[in-house]
Amino acid sequence: MLDGYLAGLENFLVAAYQTFEHDVLIIGAGGAGLRAAIEASAAGVTVGLVSKSLLGKAHTVMAEGGVAAAMGNVDDRDNWRVHFADTMRGGQYLNRPRMAELHAKEAPERVHELEAWGAVFDRTKDGRILQRNFGGHKYPRLAHVGDRTGLEMIRTLQDHGIHQGIDVHMEICILALLKEGDRVVGAFGYDRERGRFKIYRAKAVVLATGGIGKAYKITSNSWDCTGDGHSLAYHAGAELIDMEYVQFHPTGMVWPPSVRGMLVTEGVRGEGGILTNKEGKRFMFDFIPDNYKTQTADNEEEGWRYTQGDKNARRPPELLTRDHVARCIVREIKEGRGSPHGGVFLDISWIKQKISGGEEHIKRKLPSMYHQFKALGDIDITREPMEVGPTTHYIMGGIHVDADTQMSTVLGLFAAGECAAGINGANRLGGNSLSDLLVFGKRAGEYAAAFAKENSLGAIDQQQIEQVTRRALEPFERSANPQSEGPYQVQKHLQEVMQHDVGIVRREEEMQHALEEIGKLWERAGQVGITGTRDFNPGWHTALDLKHLLTVSEAITRSALERKESRGAQFRDDYPDKDDAFAKVNTIISRDAEGTMQTRLESIPEMPDYLKKVIEEMK
Ligand code: FUM
Repeated sequence: MLDGYLAGLENFLVAAYQTFEHDVLIIGAGGAGLRAAIEASAAGVTVGLVSKSLLGKAHTVMAEGGVAAAMGNVDDRDNWRVHFADTMRGGQYLNRPRMAELHAKEAPERVHELEAWGAVFDRTKDGRILQRNFGGHKYPRLAHVGDRTGLEMIRTLQDHGIHQGIDVHMEICILALLKEGDRVVGAFGYDRERGRFKIYRAKAVVLATGGIGKAYKITSNSWDCTGDGHSLAYHAGAELIDMEYVQFHPTGMVWPPSVRGMLVTEGVRGEGGILTNKEGKRFMFDFIPDNYKTQTADNEEEGWRYTQGDKNARRPPELLTRDHVARCIVREIKEGRGSPHGGVFLDISWIKQKISGGEEHIKRKLPSMYHQFKALGDIDITREPMEVGPTTHYIMGGIHVDADTQMSTVLGLFAAGECAAGINGANRLGGNSLSDLLVFGKRAGEYAAAFAKENSLGAIDQQQIEQVTRRALEPFERSANPQSEGPYQVQKHLQEVMQHDVGIVRREEEMQHALEEIGKLWERAGQVGITGTRDFNPGWHTALDLKHLLTVSEAITRSALERKESRGAQFRDDYPDKDDAFAKVNTIISRDAEGTMQTRLESIPEMPDYLKKVIEEMK
């Protein structure tokens, strides 16, 4: 009898809400989501791809500098072992070794595959894929398309994927993952255009929603980077790891306001751009860490030779790892040697003195930099320096996944790209995000398809759907209440708190303050009111994003408090050194039975001997 009742309810739900069924549902249509969709579809299962934006507009298009893959086209000393060792060192050995190994080994094949699918990379003189220098990479390793690499990748993946019969659902926000017992069986959301609720039933779900930058005031991330995947996974019972590790890219524009926070690709420094303070001094020469001294140039001439492909020269100090360069910039600013608008100078125009046709070289190698800052900020980078400073760029932390399969700690739920974690440890090297999303997007698609083949569709829980719907519509009921505030004030306050208290330099009191504020903001978020209708209503969308933003902000803050040391992207003023007690542990975030966020430390899996040997050899 109960079975009959449940079946009746399910029929009712299917009729009340537009319902879709796919073997594999992929949430997020950036590089990782598209790559997963291609792989799952190639495995012969039906695939639904949900995009918060329009197809082709995911944040991956903003990736500029290139995709890291040890192909050895420019320097034949490069290979997966060097890439693995660089990635582990950049991540301060908090990376999951197996993920770093798979990534370094498989990235070249993923890039060649993209080329076969139509991506047009820049070329060496003898016709191979050109590779450029980037911070923390020992050899020129980033395959690139000028400074529009992400755009070319998305275009290629989209063209390839669309011909495989993937069903694309555009402008859809997912509010919750649907569960049957311990297993994820779909997702529930609404379309931004009309606010109609939708049920997506699936045998396996892949999260590929990207980053969390919008939890901060100054960010290179686009509007949709609100931590949806991190938050959806956490609320569905999955673990998050390494959430304290937020990367502040050293060079975001600080002036003019029209381009504030916008990324200035590391490619600018890879092509010879230098950082100077208001005294005109190239300050990075003063801050070369001992363990990088043998690799880093101590004079301009040698650094310049390196950027020109001289194999015997050492790399310029501007190409040290991002955490280090960002902190050096902050020091210059704090000590009064900054630029007029609170940054430092990044100058690529000086290379005109070095090479004939320098202006054309800049325009050819950095076309987006040239055009976007000219059009949006009236800055001509071929003639004048930019004013730059750190901008929230990437989160190394994310959903805890199995290295090989990308399945999370919840059955049937997979994750790839920025919302998953493990490959980057305490800090990510530039260019490793694009290779990460190709390598692990493919793996997530492959294993999600395999899971879907072995499982049937699960049942939909009516109570869960009703509860999520009711909560989503509550803000409209409060619109008449003069006491209720709008979602933008809550969002703005959160961004300010995270920027100030959990930013690039952290300390206990400030982070405790942030936690208190986040607690109050949870309350306020539960009381916001919205006017208007459900038809494309940005206020309503923002109100619904708040849960994701608050979830990731709380996870970042709790993890940062737990790690009482400075390592990689986390710098704590009150614990400025590394502490051996934290050298081999990841921070894990989980949700207990009462719905409270819990933090614990967990040992990193032991590195197998053959990988230890690689690290030793590379030293
Ligand atoms: O500087 C950049 O182009 C950024 C690249 C990345 O974050 O991988």
